[in-house]
Amino acid sequence: MRTYQQSFINLLKNKNLKENENDILALWQSLPVRERASLFIDTALLITLLRFVQEQYWILNQEREEPAHFGNFVKKYFKSELSLILFLHATLESSVVTDIEEMRANLLVILKVLLPVMVKHEQADHIVFATECLKLMVDIFEFEQQLHNVYEDKKEVANFTLDRTFDALDIVFNLDYKSEMQSTDPDETLERIFQGSGVGVQSSYNTIIMALNFLRLPQNARLTDLGSGFGRVGLVISLLRPDIKFIGYEFVASRVDLANAAVKKLGIDKQLFFHQDLSLPEFKIPDAEVYYLFDPFTQETYSHVIAQLNQIASQRKIMIVTKGNAREQFMTGSEKKNWSAPQVLNYANFCLFRSRG
Ligand SMILES: C[S@@+](CC[C@H](N)C(=O)[O-])C[C@H]1O[C@@H](n2cnc3c(N)ncnc32)[C@H](O)[C@@H]1O
Repeated sequence: MRTYQQSFINLLKNKNLKENENDILALWQSLPVRERASLFIDTALLITLLRFVQEQYWILNQEREEPAHFGNFVKKYFKSELSLILFLHATLESSVVTDIEEMRANLLVILKVLLPVMVKHEQADHIVFATECLKLMVDIFEFEQQLHNVYEDKKEVANFTLDRTFDALDIVFNLDYKSEMQSTDPDETLERIFQGSGVGVQSSYNTIIMALNFLRLPQNARLTDLGSGFGRVGLVISLLRPDIKFIGYEFVASRVDLANAAVKKLGIDKQLFFHQDLSLPEFKIPDAEVYYLFDPFTQETYSHVIAQLNQIASQRKIMIVTKGNAREQFMTGSEKKNWSAPQVLNYANFCLFRSRG
């Protein structure tokens, strides 16, 4: 158990946490920055996990006359989904289902208090906090992938996902989607820019982290995001693998500005994101070892971009990571002789194409 986790449990069990928000702040202020990251990750994770527990308990009781004993019911999940939160084992086993509802309400209070203080770290701590959160996610997503493999082997549908669990981390990057969602500017472009789609424009943290793991890139490899949105891919990669030379090209200027501001706030002294319309014939996509495409283009722009990637692939070995419909576009638009069969990772929803070079 981490040192703060007993105090965290006390907050979860507090019957009047809304009136005692200072206890949350006091705990936060007492912690070194890496432990703060862990506290945030625990909070976000528990919001998802306790909801999962509640749902499973509800489903189980649909088939019973008498509700199952909650402590006995929850025990078995500590060998699977809940093994991520072993520190809560004793607490949950001695709880009744209504305690879970109270804990979830307290988690939301904790998150509400933490989010505004998380953005206030000094620059040196800011980058440590964000990087530590991502490192903790690496282990969590690896665990989740193993869990999904078990579901797949048993031919069961995974009713458990951490896809959007850590989206709140975007607040430390100041990725303010609301400004765009409230914008009433007419959309005058024919390009596919997902105006006002908010966080949905971004790859989820598990996709980016698992793709990075899967790629096993050598030191100083170059990775280019074609349609980089608000910049989450570049931010995650630059923090977890600062050696990688990342470039993101994006059509929407305000997204590029937000992404570059996040880079600056982290104290990273490089421009990572560039305002660029990739449909323009005069723009040539520069060389890289990996290109990342999440559902970015219109049919015409796909044809133009994929033709360039085919050209690069005919000369050297490259990899393409696709997410969303980019996979089908790439399957139809790529020159088959240049590429080996794609590897698909259902968990994290991405696909990897390797050129033969
Ligand atoms: C679904 S988002 C993906 C964002 C990011 N790659 C990620 O995975 O989090 C696709 C992005 O491609 C951008 N896009 C669409 N057409 C483009 C073009 N012609 N040139 C550059 N970017 C474009 C959109 O504006 C959008 O932000």
